[in-house]
Amino acid sequence: MTLALTGGYSAVQFRYPAELSLTVRKIANFCIGNLICAQYRFMDGHYLTVAHWEGDTIMKKINIEANTYVYPNPVTLVGTEVEGRANFMALGWVSRVNAKPPLIGVNRVHYTAKGIQETKTFSINYPTADMVEVVDYCGIVSGKKVDKSDVFEFFYGYLKTAPMITECSLCMECKLIDTVELPTNYFFIGEIVASYTEEKYLTDGKPDIKKMNPLLLTMPDNSYWTVGEFAGKAWSIGKKLKK
Ligand SMILES: Cc1cc2nc3c(=O)[nH]c(=O)nc-3n(C[C@H](O)[C@H](O)[C@H](O)COP(=O)(O)O)c2cc1C
Repeated sequence: MTLALTGGYSAVQFRYPAELSLTVRKIANFCIGNLICAQYRFMDGHYLTVAHWEGDTIMKKINIEANTYVYPNPVTLVGTEVEGRANFMALGWVSRVNAKPPLIGVNRVHYTAKGIQETKTFSINYPTADMVEVVDYCGIVSGKKVDKSDVFEFFYGYLKTAPMITECSLCMECKLIDTVELPTNYFFIGEIVASYTEEKYLTDGKPDIKKMNPLLLTMPDNSYWTVGEFAGKAWSIGKKLKK
C-alpha cells in the first residue's frame, strides 16, 4: 500500500483497518487515474492522503466520536401547565419505555420541567409536517420569557393539567410516575392515560404514519424530514431467513 502525505507525516506503510478507524477522520475521496485516494485528518490536525489501487479493499468505517444521536427522532410537542398557563415545547428525545403499563420517557425539558414537576402531568403531541415552523418556534423560545399559550388551540382529557394540541395528529395525556436525575438531564417517565387522534389518520383502526405525516429530526445536522417509503412488515419480513 502506498501512502502520500501532507502536513508532517513521513511516508509509512499503513496497516488498516484498525488504525484508520481509531485515529483519523476521512475528509475527502478523489481519484488520480486508477488510483483511488482518500484524505484523512488525524486528531492532532495532521492530514494524510492514502492511495490504493482500484480493487483493493479499504476500511469504510470511520470513528465519528461517541456523542452520536438516535437517528432519526420523531419531533413532538410537550404540553404542560406552568404556573397555571399552558405551555408547549418541541421535543425530540422521547421514547416509549415500557409495554404494560404504557410508559413514555421524555428527556431534559427546560421551563416545561417546572410544569411537569408542579402538576405531575404532561402531554405528548405529534405535529404534522406542515406545522414545521410553529414546532421550531416552540423549540426556540421559552415559556419563561414568551407566552406560548396562544400558539395552538388545545383541549384537556381526563387529566385536567395536560393541555393537548387540537391540530396534532396524535395526542397522549400522561401522568408522571417517575423522574430520573441524570448527570445533565432529567428523564421524566409518564404513564399514557389516554391517546386521541382522528378518523382521517387511521387505517384499520390503527395510526397510519403516511396519513399522520409526522416530522422527523436528525442531529447533529439539525434538520427536519418527512417519512420515506415503506420498507417491509416488522416481525415478519425476517422470517424468510429462519432456518
Ligand atoms: C426540533 C427540536 C427538538 C428539541 N428537542 C428537545 C428535547 O428533546 N429535549 C429538550 O430538553 N429540549 C429540546 N429542544 C429544545 C426546547 O424545545 C427549547 O429549549 C424550548 O425553548 C423549551 O421551551 P420551554 O422553556 O418553554 O419549556 C428541542 C428544540 C427543537 C427545535
